Amino acid sequence: MPITSPQLTTKPLWSNAFAHPAPEFPHTQLKILAGVIPPGLSGTLYRNGPGRLERAGKRVGHWFDGDGAILAVTFAEGAASGVYRYVQTEGYQAESKVDRWLYGNYGMLPSGNIWERWGKSVKNVANTSVLALPDRLLALWEGGMPHALDLDSLETIGTDNLGLDSIPLVYSAHPKVDPISGQIYNFGISIGAKTKLNLYESDRSGKIIKHSQNKLPRLTTIHDFLMVGKYLVFCIPPIEIQPIPILLGLASYSESMRWKPELGTQILVFDRENLSLVSSFNVEPWFQWHFGNGYVDTDGNIVCDLVRYPDFDTNQFLGEVATGATQTEAIGTLWQLVIDPTHGKLISNEQLVDRSCEFPIVQQSQVGQSWRYTYLAVHKLGTILRQEIVGTIGRFDRQNQTLTTAELDRHLYPTEPIHVVDKFDRDRGWILTVVYDGENHQSEVWIYDSDRLDETPVCRLGLPSVVPMGFHGTWKGN
Ligand SMILES: [Fe+2]
Repeated sequence: MPITSPQLTTKPLWSNAFAHPAPEFPHTQLKILAGVIPPGLSGTLYRNGPGRLERAGKRVGHWFDGDGAILAVTFAEGAASGVYRYVQTEGYQAESKVDRWLYGNYGMLPSGNIWERWGKSVKNVANTSVLALPDRLLALWEGGMPHALDLDSLETIGTDNLGLDSIPLVYSAHPKVDPISGQIYNFGISIGAKTKLNLYESDRSGKIIKHSQNKLPRLTTIHDFLMVGKYLVFCIPPIEIQPIPILLGLASYSESMRWKPELGTQILVFDRENLSLVSSFNVEPWFQWHFGNGYVDTDGNIVCDLVRYPDFDTNQFLGEVATGATQTEAIGTLWQLVIDPTHGKLISNEQLVDRSCEFPIVQQSQVGQSWRYTYLAVHKLGTILRQEIVGTIGRFDRQNQTLTTAELDRHLYPTEPIHVVDKFDRDRGWILTVVYDGENHQSEVWIYDSDRLDETPVCRLGLPSVVPMGFHGTWKGN
């Protein structure tokens, strides 16, 4: 079926990517539009994000509510093929059958009148990130269990209990993989009479082999954490979720969150070995979705970076993305924290880059260790920030304290940059990003030399149809 461009409106160009549900496509050889695929690029890029924000003419309530769809682009011997599939969650299948929204979610209420909404479960949208295990791909979402998919076909196998039968599992969307041991760490918040922070350690197959439960002071939201040397680090934002309106079906999660700066941000440091608390202390209030990376320095202190916001307006902005027009300004910038983990003290807290950015990420082999480059998605200069989503990618050099950005025209929108080490030259790296062209309504995969982000990409590949800007991806090398 031919894919037609939507009618362009006065809405920003990025909104065209979300105007209609993205169509799936089967394994397709990708056309090289410019340049050459580096011979040392061998493996698969996986990316996750909401592919459907509308059903039967009704929009979702928040960008986070869209149904997850996975893009896989496999590179081998100088060629590339792509496949794009929705995660066949129970909720997605039920709603597809009747072609209307049935469930509530992060930013929307379930369908039906108030009596029908009481206690109704939310839909696991499986739309946030991916974890590539040796024998399957996990599509992750922070409110429930992951879904397992076939690594090649992206067919959904089903929900995955990670080797456990008894634990009501919430397995968040930002697991950390130790690049040396292959151990995987993650967390999940369980809601009950008491709010608990579950910590998990898995072996390289994904099987959970250690689990601890730790009391949280309130029902709140935690999106990401750090694996740093022998520690796991959390920064709990000063947000309180009011559960009653959610349970009564009167308000969504997003609507029930209250920004309470007087609570401060709480830093929790856990021992990675036994998953027990080392220190807990309060500092000034801020919010972060994402950390970049962290390491333990020679003094035993934790040094880490994150994209920090002064408040929670970023949630409002991301909710507005689903409408196709944003109006709330929310500027996150790159900061560095230095934490004394044993005495529970924040030693320093400084801004590294004053430019609005998101999706900080590092080379996979440097996670939890000393590193030099943090890659980011960055707002273009000269744009009205409240109306625009991130429009370029950049690399922050921690050694020289400089930010290098790619030059992307006004109508182009990249996604989180993924670093890949060259198969033949381990000192060389490539940056992969999926770029949406809002003028021509098409998506491409761009490959940059990681040392030359300010030059033209070494290769551009055409995708068969639009893959909307999503959240997180990963690389699985051959
Ligand atoms: Fe995230």
